[in-house]
Amino acid sequence: MPVVRDVLIWDCERRNAESGDIVIDEDGRISAVLPSRSAKGDVIFDGGGETAAIPGLVNSHTHVSMTLLRGLAEELPLMEWLETKIFPAEDRLLPRHIRSGAELAMLEMISGGTTCFADMYYFMREVASAALTFGMRAALCRGLTGDDARKLNENLALAEEFNGRDGRIIVQLGPHAPYTVPRESLARIAGIARDKNLGVHFHWLETEGELETFRNEYKISPSAYLEQTGMLDVPKLLLAHSVWHPSDELGRVNRANVTLVHNPKSNLKLGSGYAPVREMLGLGVNVALGTDGAASNNRLDMWDEMRTAALMHKGYHRDPTLVSARDVLRMATVAGASGMGFSDAGLIKTGWQADLALVDISGPRYVGCDAANLPEFLVYSGTSRDVRATVVAGKLLYKDGRYMTADPEEITAKAKEHRRDITK
Ligand code: NI
Repeated sequence: MPVVRDVLIWDCERRNAESGDIVIDEDGRISAVLPSRSAKGDVIFDGGGETAAIPGLVNSHTHVSMTLLRGLAEELPLMEWLETKIFPAEDRLLPRHIRSGAELAMLEMISGGTTCFADMYYFMREVASAALTFGMRAALCRGLTGDDARKLNENLALAEEFNGRDGRIIVQLGPHAPYTVPRESLARIAGIARDKNLGVHFHWLETEGELETFRNEYKISPSAYLEQTGMLDVPKLLLAHSVWHPSDELGRVNRANVTLVHNPKSNLKLGSGYAPVREMLGLGVNVALGTDGAASNNRLDMWDEMRTAALMHKGYHRDPTLVSARDVLRMATVAGASGMGFSDAGLIKTGWQADLALVDISGPRYVGCDAANLPEFLVYSGTSRDVRATVVAGKLLYKDGRYMTADPEEITAKAKEHRRDITK
């Protein structure tokens, strides 16, 4: 059986990290955590006592194929950014571009220890197929706008074809946002999600203007809107951004099936504001972490996202005790995985998926790192460049700069060509 040997193991159920070997069964689950250098089996990775093993990072809101649009529009407000730059470029995207952008994103994600992501876009068969080839775990949906039966049918066909595939793909429904989907359509989508037992991924109150629309035009509170459309009763609901969800209404979305996805760097870059994460965590809301797409971040780097999330709320509220390193590691692992419906991913324990980020802690930045302070070292000192290897469902996808399931030169060369296609 595959063994990850002699690593310093930490997940968010542990106070201190522990040295050990991680044994993986033939289904790609963790079958045991044993004392260091005691496990027998096929050693797929030897940490030599100077590697941390944490659960693979989970990017809970992104649009992977937007790597092809990276840098295309900078320093503009969200609506202008979308309407003058992004939507016209997206009109030119063909399935091959979606595939190419997704592959480019996956190279970046797995080199930084990301094992799982939630994605909303279109031509999603391409993204599903790329995730299966790379070996990543993903929750995928087709972005739905207006009252468009064709798009909804594409989303349902995606579910038919890929939901549950290889135990690594979940298909959700993807109503884009309250400003692009009419209320009746949203209610219909929520009903279908309940009937077919599918999760929903939704952009929610990213900008202040959306909150004003609820107050001035819809004349309804955002939480009541979610309740009345049935969105709060779908099996799993990912509410991306949630920057402007009123703090005094957070109790109404504090449900086991609802996850608010914090996207701090996209919100900062687009000038959207900062989400009330202090209040969310205070209430015990399930909060996950995501990068958003590469056109608005521009990195798909969960380390950068964790560090930003841990820093910005402290600064804004002038309170260094807020949003701890352990909080953000929870957001970036088990909170995201469970929010998507992967109920056995995000912890390093027997019976759970062997999804791991293996992090070199031998370098200068980690002098002083030990079993008690590992999480803080990872979030405040660590970077994605410290990731030595990435494992999903027990399989090595990346190790010491080498990709096991993809050819980075070929993918990058093709992406350059496709970028020229869509911008000429
Ligand atoms: Ni987004």
